[in-house]
Amino acid sequence: MEFTVSQQDREWLEQTKEKLLCKLSAEVQRTGGKIVYIPKDGRYEDLATPTGVYWWCNGFWPGMLWQAYHASKDEAFRKAAETIEERLDQAFEGYEGLHHDVGFMYTLSALADYRLTKNKDSRRRALHAANLLAGRYNARAKFIRAWNGDRTGWTIADTMMNLPLLYWASRELGDPRFTYIAQDHADTCAKVTVREDGSSYHISILDPLTGEVVDRPSGQGYSPDSAWSRGQAWIVYGYALSFRHTGEKRYLDTAKKAAHYFIANLALTDWLPLCDFQAPEEPLIYDASAGACAACGLLELAEQAGEYEQALYQKAAWNILKAMEKKFCNWDCDADGILGYSSKAYHDQKERETSIIYGDYFFTEAILRLAGKAFPIW
Ligand code: GLY
Repeated sequence: MEFTVSQQDREWLEQTKEKLLCKLSAEVQRTGGKIVYIPKDGRYEDLATPTGVYWWCNGFWPGMLWQAYHASKDEAFRKAAETIEERLDQAFEGYEGLHHDVGFMYTLSALADYRLTKNKDSRRRALHAANLLAGRYNARAKFIRAWNGDRTGWTIADTMMNLPLLYWASRELGDPRFTYIAQDHADTCAKVTVREDGSSYHISILDPLTGEVVDRPSGQGYSPDSAWSRGQAWIVYGYALSFRHTGEKRYLDTAKKAAHYFIANLALTDWLPLCDFQAPEEPLIYDASAGACAACGLLELAEQAGEYEQALYQKAAWNILKAMEKKFCNWDCDADGILGYSSKAYHDQKERETSIIYGDYFFTEAILRLAGKAFPIW
């Protein structure tokens, strides 16, 4: 079955894209090279306290800026993105606050810059980040460890989105080591994180010598055995990207299985993503960022999968984005933040159903993907 876009949807997309670029232009005037996360009273504040520079989300604003620059060629976006990239060098200097999410941080900042402008300093930064990520690999248990401190055997769903940096480093250097590490991690994650029904655990603690699962503590979802929707989205998009970079069909199969679970659950809630698919009915907590990231993953899958699935993934992505645009978006150009209703974690009441920078990033990428204007950043 072929998926055709109606005239009405085409018009919606054109209007949404225009509103998006218009709002991003207003935001970049106010926000420029700030390091940002969640707007307070409609304004982004700079996060760069001594520890703020390490925050895992610091690539998302530059990632949006590079997407907007690619789509519009407006120099204001490029200049702000370059400022943030230079500021993130402080995190390399301090080092100890860095973590498994260096992929998010530097793929969306330095690597995006290098790909678009061939800036040699950006290449060096992206390679440095790839080496830091590879340095977290456990060669016995075959996974990339999450976080720092004494969490020696911890591995989480989120790390899948960091692997594209390693695939890129292998290609850039002509050195397969980075890809071996990424694939070992993807294989371990498929085994310990993705369940039979396509849902996923957030955290698995492995024996660092053998790779056996020793515990599954609570993460950002409702409970250890539930289905945290953003973790599920990381799995959908992460495996779709691993398939794109390696051509290994097992990654495509894992992405499809996780995508089918995501789509089936969103069909129950009018395409608006809950924070956890297995939480009690009350309170109803949304996480728009999960929908935005999954929409990108579904559009990626639509490019990779066969004809029947292509229509399924495209239609699901359009449904999610249209539903979220209607219910969750704030197009007031005088207020920072686009996609409301993102939630940091099920049990976190402070950063709940609000605009969070990663929700905005993935919404931007998804809309530009639909419009054929996205920069393939991963
Ligand atoms: N990587 C952490 C999160 O998804 O909130």
